[in-house]
Amino acid sequence: MNRRVLVAGGAGYIGSHTTVELIAAGYDVIVVDNFSNSDASSLEGIQRITGVMPTFIEADCCDKEAMRRVFEAHDFDSVIHFAAFKAVGESVAEPMKYYRNNLLSLLNILELMREYGRRNVVFSSSATVYGDADVLPVTEMTPRKPATSPYGNTKQMSEDILRDMVHATEGLQGIALRYFNPIGAHPSAHIGELPRGVPNNLVPYITQTAAGVRECLSIFGDDYPTPDGSCLRDYIDIVDLARAHVLAIGRMVEGRSKARYEVFNVGTGRPVSVFELVKGFEQANDLKLNYRVAARREGDVTAIWADTTLANEELGWHAERELCDTLRAAWAWECSVRGIDR
Ligand code: UD1
Repeated sequence: MNRRVLVAGGAGYIGSHTTVELIAAGYDVIVVDNFSNSDASSLEGIQRITGVMPTFIEADCCDKEAMRRVFEAHDFDSVIHFAAFKAVGESVAEPMKYYRNNLLSLLNILELMREYGRRNVVFSSSATVYGDADVLPVTEMTPRKPATSPYGNTKQMSEDILRDMVHATEGLQGIALRYFNPIGAHPSAHIGELPRGVPNNLVPYITQTAAGVRECLSIFGDDYPTPDGSCLRDYIDIVDLARAHVLAIGRMVEGRSKARYEVFNVGTGRPVSVFELVKGFEQANDLKLNYRVAARREGDVTAIWADTTLANEELGWHAERELCDTLRAAWAWECSVRGIDR
């Protein structure tokens, strides 16, 4: 059985945590990354946690010849493709940057997999493919609504490209994992999220505010039709999310897939409001956060959370970590990045 996995984007936030879990599960990992939104410190963090430095190749997945050299040199049977841009607002301002990067990287990887006869691929999809869903929680059968951003569009298009390519290529099978809101960090605080510039996402904004890097968190809207007026999301611990990838690879490697192309939601199944998350962070870490209510952010959906029955039953995956532990890990990581004594 081939237990080698190529992790494209393996130095990034989700990629680095997944690499750790793959190594812990006995896989050999080859990381490809161009450090466009990550840096080499995450590879050192992986080594500190696992004792293993994964094979590393600095390359851009959009550079097909560079990727061909990776396929020539290594005989992995499985690929996990994380290498993509993910800032919703930026994608609205610079759509071509998103279409070019997120689609070309996938096309290259799938074409090379077909050419070199590699079998299993996991794709990083997102709850964004559901758009503003009419019925909650969303199941994998919930119809996808029109995407609300070019970023979301690339995720919908990528799922379709993967599905079509799997069906057209004998021996190829794929799983798309639809992530809800990944948060937190490895409990060791050796790896975590490293946002460049001003964070777009809630939890890094919270931890940077607590660290004094940002003055005040803006809560985008308290007039939504939800119990406390703020948006509802399904925040999934990064280590739990990473484990879902290991199970998805195992399912394909061991021939347990029920269809050549499968889709799974990866969330907790529990909606949490922005206010609840802020309070949870304060309680978990015994500190006070400077925040204020601001206007709604354009493009935000009121509420989305997952029905995770399929991942529970088919992947044998369950979200295990408690939100307070996740929020403690997020703060421990920020402190380790900033050299703050907790
Ligand atoms: C977005 C994307 C998702 C993507 C994820 C990671 C959509 C609809 N969602 O999720 O696909 O995977 O980013 O990049 O495309 N908030 C504040 N103040 C802040 C920041 C956020 O109040 O400073 C609120 C938001 O209004 C939202 C919640 O916190 O209600 C979560 O926001 P965020 O972390 O940015 O994630 P999403 O927008 O849900």
